[in-house]
Amino acid sequence: EKGGYDHFMLKEIYEQPRAIKDTYRGRLLADQGLIRMAGIDLNMEKFLNANRIIIVACGTSWHAGLVAEYIFEDLARIPVEVEYASEFRYRNPVITDKDVLIAISQSGETADTLAAIKLAKEKGAFVFGVCNVVGSSIARETNAGAYTHAGPEIGVASTKAFTTQITVLTLMALKLAKAKGIFSESKYHEYLTELETIPSKVEKSLESNTLIEIISDVYKDSTNCLYLGRGYNFPVALEGALKLKEISYIHAEGYPAAEMKHGPIALIDEHMPVFVIATKKGHYEKVVSNIQEIKSRKGKIIAIVTEGDEQVKELADHVIEVPETLESLTPLLTTIPLQLLSYHIAVMRGCNVDQPRNLAKSVTVE
Ligand code: M6R
Repeated sequence: EKGGYDHFMLKEIYEQPRAIKDTYRGRLLADQGLIRMAGIDLNMEKFLNANRIIIVACGTSWHAGLVAEYIFEDLARIPVEVEYASEFRYRNPVITDKDVLIAISQSGETADTLAAIKLAKEKGAFVFGVCNVVGSSIARETNAGAYTHAGPEIGVASTKAFTTQITVLTLMALKLAKAKGIFSESKYHEYLTELETIPSKVEKSLESNTLIEIISDVYKDSTNCLYLGRGYNFPVALEGALKLKEISYIHAEGYPAAEMKHGPIALIDEHMPVFVIATKKGHYEKVVSNIQEIKSRKGKIIAIVTEGDEQVKELADHVIEVPETLESLTPLLTTIPLQLLSYHIAVMRGCNVDQPRNLAKSVTVE
């Protein structure tokens, strides 16, 4: 049942090229210059007339929501707010019938997310679900939606759900950008064809596994870790830290790299591993200077870089390469090494990777 892998988590990490393909199969028709998504097509006016999009979710799905905020605002120019479902539902939020609420949930059963949906519906918002489990409570409770089609995710630590959620949300943003006339045919075509290359680029990213095992062995006894990223890769830093915490029980924090000097920099010494996402596109030079700041305080730097990078290689203790892609698609690649890293560290520490202590796969009570 684990397909020859030691754990479901590893199997699910390796399933991502296929899972992403399954997510866009029948939807992304690059040769026709078309994205087909019934849930959007049938409700296009709702999206185009929305004052804003509110995204609600928990945990890893919330991180996918944060990536989506960058994608929707950058590509489709629609204002987005991302909320923890648990906070949103209890803070007397301002919701109107001009709002579109997107709920993201792998299981479709998360209690707080479900309650947030009900609240938004009562206030007249249009509610769209991005779920993995077909026929789940959230899928049934929403006005429309799009499934991720990632296949069953058994490991408690979410992996393929995250990358397929980002894939669905990217398709949505691209479709809306096109409908709003923001994208020229050629730019649209560039995005669609690049999206089609992502499964093979994820495959390529997985090839760093042996190197990542070696790096994991160096840092497996750490007590604290910092994860830094900027722009599209800031949520990836949060997700990397969550993955490490939940399965290896090492304390980890994710931060926007520039926030480091507002506090966390005080933590940096020779015992602090800092995982930095430093891909070529998007604030590269600024991340490089953040890396220099870490280095001058003797922090250990493990950098996720674009293939062929020279500059960061000079500074970092370890570099892990991912293929080049469009900036907005980088999270689909940069997240892969961080998943593998947390997996190997947890295995080396003898942790129960698929069923970490105190955690349930779906949180059906608040
Ligand atoms: O099923 P959901 O996507 O609604 O679940 C949300 C979170 O409970 C979930 O992502 C959790 O944070 C995972 N354990 C993260 O790996």
